Amino acid sequence: MKFNRLALTALLAFAATPAMAVECAVEVEGNDMMQFNLKEIEISKSCEDVTITMKHVGNLPKAAMGHNLVISKTADAQAIATAAATAGAANDYLDTTDERIIAHTEMVGGGESSSTSFKPADLDAGGEYTFFCTFPGHFALMKGTVKLVD
Ligand code: CU
Repeated sequence: MKFNRLALTALLAFAATPAMAVECAVEVEGNDMMQFNLKEIEISKSCEDVTITMKHVGNLPKAAMGHNLVISKTADAQAIATAAATAGAANDYLDTTDERIIAHTEMVGGGESSSTSFKPADLDAGGEYTFFCTFPGHFALMKGTVKLVD
C-alpha cells in the first residue's frame, strides 16, 4: 500500500500544478526546414510578463537559415516582414525601431536560442496577433497565431 500512497501523492501534486502556476514562458522551435514547431501559441492574460524563447534546433548557420521570432498585430506582420529585407543582413533582417513590433528575439542560427519578453496587458483583448520569422523568404511558412487566453 505504500506504493499506492506515493502514487496518489504524485498525482495530486501533478493535478494541482496547472491551477497554481500559470505558464508564463513559451518555447518555440525553428528548424532547418524553415518551420516553427507550433502554429499557435497561447499567452495568458494573467501573466504580468510572458517570455518567449525561440530555439533553433537545426544545424545550418544564421547566414543560410537564420530564424527570429517577431510578434505584431496580424495586420502589420506582412509589412514588417517586407521591411526586414531592406534592413538587411547587417541588421539581422529586422528594423528594430519599427513601433509596430511588440516583441522580437535575436536572429539565431542552428543550435542557438534567443528569448524576448512582453506584457500581455499591452495587447488588445480582442486583437489578432501573429508570430513570425523575418529572415528573407521565411515569412510564407514561418508564422502562427498568438492567442490571448485568460
Ligand atoms: Cu526563419
